[in-house]
Amino acid sequence: MIKEIEKYLNTIIVGDCITNLSLIPDKSVDLIFADPPYWMQTEGELLRTNGAKFDGVQDNWDKFNTYKEYDEFSQKWLKECKRILKPNGSIWVIGAFQNIYRLGCIMQNLGFWILNDVVWSKPNAVPNFGGTRYQNSHETLLWCSPSQKSQYTFNYKTMKHLNGGKQDKSVWEIGICIGSERLKDEDGKKAHSTQKPEKLLYKIILSTSKPNDVVLDPFFGSGTTGAVAKKLGRNYIGLEMEQKYIDIAKKRIERVKPENTDLHNLALEVKPPRVSPKQLIQRGYLKDGKKLYNKKGDFIGTLTSSGYVDDGKDVLSIHKMSAKYLNLSNNNGWNYFFYKNSNDLKPMNDLRYEYIKQNNR
Ligand SMILES: C[S@@+](CC[C@H](N)C(=O)[O-])C[C@H]1O[C@@H](n2cnc3c(N)ncnc32)[C@H](O)[C@@H]1O
Repeated sequence: MIKEIEKYLNTIIVGDCITNLSLIPDKSVDLIFADPPYWMQTEGELLRTNGAKFDGVQDNWDKFNTYKEYDEFSQKWLKECKRILKPNGSIWVIGAFQNIYRLGCIMQNLGFWILNDVVWSKPNAVPNFGGTRYQNSHETLLWCSPSQKSQYTFNYKTMKHLNGGKQDKSVWEIGICIGSERLKDEDGKKAHSTQKPEKLLYKIILSTSKPNDVVLDPFFGSGTTGAVAKKLGRNYIGLEMEQKYIDIAKKRIERVKPENTDLHNLALEVKPPRVSPKQLIQRGYLKDGKKLYNKKGDFIGTLTSSGYVDDGKDVLSIHKMSAKYLNLSNNNGWNYFFYKNSNDLKPMNDLRYEYIKQNNR
């Protein structure tokens, strides 16, 4: 980690982010999450169908006069983000239809490389009260690396695991921030008009950073990025110009307890141990002749003393035998075979990890 950044770790820098980003050294940040002003351009009061006032985004920080002004502002902070990102870092920028196309264009012009545009789909989105358009039920996140060549972090296996073993997709269904998660002021009103759900930041930070990485948010607001970064054992740096939000964010982050789990420490991303089925037999983890099954419990074949599988027709490696039964040319047999222990199906793969733990290699 670059020494000069250490004094800013786990703090909130007060003031305009365009000025204050200049405090951050070049190429020192692993991950940026930016939730900039949308410039909503709403006029007058928004009313619910029952006539009650809807508490939307009417804040001064969201007001601009022209597209030119908005673009110049966006260009400045994005340029600073490009400067401070490590070459193998990455940035997430969230926006809605009002601003995301402008931001995407500026980012591409600055040389950022778009990795994904993720749709945050909101099952509990605010209705279109007037019934004049479709209900606007999503926002877009641009996930970008500083260049096409960046070796950015993507914790693929962790996200696949959280998605029930299936490759995770670019449409994320996450409810907007409500209930006890929504921070309130003394009058019981929303403390911040655009507080993002922690689930959204959880996916972002867990999927694209490592433990102890530096995660910077130039529009910190109520501190959602800081709260989740702390929970996941990452460092945060916030920049925010409104003192009232900084006070809220500090109190909020203080309450967070880090969750030091194997998942958050990316245990699933570690390369699997190099152990062969034959070694498992030699050390007594499996017996020669042990019956092997697929995950549904269908019997496939028996294990030979040399660690192959005999299905009565062929004697093949676990990989080739699994590929034969899946009608594929190749397959990773470690994820295919199960054995029975007191009638319970157990993944053969777990024994590789058990072997490494007990044999201290
Ligand atoms: C869309 S909100 C971010 C909300 C945040 N993600 C959360 O979950 O609470 C944008 C925030 O950026 C702040 N902001 C706007 N312009 C800024 C600037 N030039 N420098 C620093 N902060 C700014 C606003 O005060 C506001 O809190």
